[in-house]
Amino acid sequence: MTDTLTIRRPDDFHLHLRDGAILDAVATGSLDFARAIIMPNLVPPVVNAAMVSAYRDRILAAVTAGAPDALFEPLMTLYLTDETTPETIDEVAGVCTAAKLYPAHATTNSASGVNDVAALTPVLERMAERGLVLCIHGEVTDHEVDIFDREAVFLERVLAPLRARVPDLKIVLEHLSTRAAIDFVRGTEGMAGTITAHHLVIDRNDLLAGGIRPHNYCLPIVKRREDREALVAAATGDDPSFFFGSDSAPHTDPRKLGPCGAAGCFTAPVALAILAHLFEAVGALDKLEAFVSDQGAAFYGLAPNPDTVTLTRGAPVPLDPIVTADGPVTLFNPGFDITWRVEGSPALPGR
Ligand code: DOR
Ligand code: ZN
Repeated sequence: MTDTLTIRRPDDFHLHLRDGAILDAVATGSLDFARAIIMPNLVPPVVNAAMVSAYRDRILAAVTAGAPDALFEPLMTLYLTDETTPETIDEVAGVCTAAKLYPAHATTNSASGVNDVAALTPVLERMAERGLVLCIHGEVTDHEVDIFDREAVFLERVLAPLRARVPDLKIVLEHLSTRAAIDFVRGTEGMAGTITAHHLVIDRNDLLAGGIRPHNYCLPIVKRREDREALVAAATGDDPSFFFGSDSAPHTDPRKLGPCGAAGCFTAPVALAILAHLFEAVGALDKLEAFVSDQGAAFYGLAPNPDTVTLTRGAPVPLDPIVTADGPVTLFNPGFDITWRVEGSPALPGR
């Protein structure tokens, strides 16, 4: 058993940092990562170049306030709406790495998302020309479709036609949650998929059996054990189309625990430690670096990070909530003791 592991510094290819008081409280929680793809589903959403630049500045200010010497690069995304035009893409090309497609009403703050994906084709073609990546929340919003089937139905109904219409566009299907999605990404040119830490360690029994656990509620909702096993096989396997995106999504406890609790697991400060635990448990610790540090950067055409992080094993990390001016934010509990920690990490000060 190894007690120390040094890997190239990782990136997080799907992160919610929010805004205001929550941003101030969680920004340093992602500093195990060198770069992160920042989600644009703020209120109001980040829909133009000025909003992207202003949000980037707020993120950097929050990081600097919490950790003055930290190096962190937010990779910004544009929120696509029915009103987005090819000219919007031209305007954001210098400040954005990707654009995000939320089917309207699919998830948190997606009311301004896209109703007619086919009508977005000229925008997607311009993204391909400009080298922007398309990040997709892959669930249909049709209430006729069962919540556990919404990802699988999206693949055939929306994603396959989209892929065919814009063959040159780089597409990331985010937070994969089913075996069907793994198989789709594996079999499709120019596509990659991100996998979260929480979808790798919990299934729907951890959400619903023996009592409902709101902190395990996220979207796409966690599925069957077989789906989780397919995700673990993809994350620890040799196909470079799969890489890490935390989808760390902080909400205050009152928002998570109310009568209509919000979707999202706040994982960023403990994500790397959870992944190390899981990869070790399945005998694949040697695959962790490829999953968190190499494959995502390669797909996005980014240089590998020059620095490293070292994980060491020790006493269990306390999972006390993060205090914010808007209320406490509970850290995701994977259901096992978190004994790995990143040496010198600003992500979990004092723990
Ligand atoms: O669990 C989730 N939380 N899934 C999403 O798609 C959105 C996210 C959020 O913004 O809270
Ligand atoms: Zn997300």
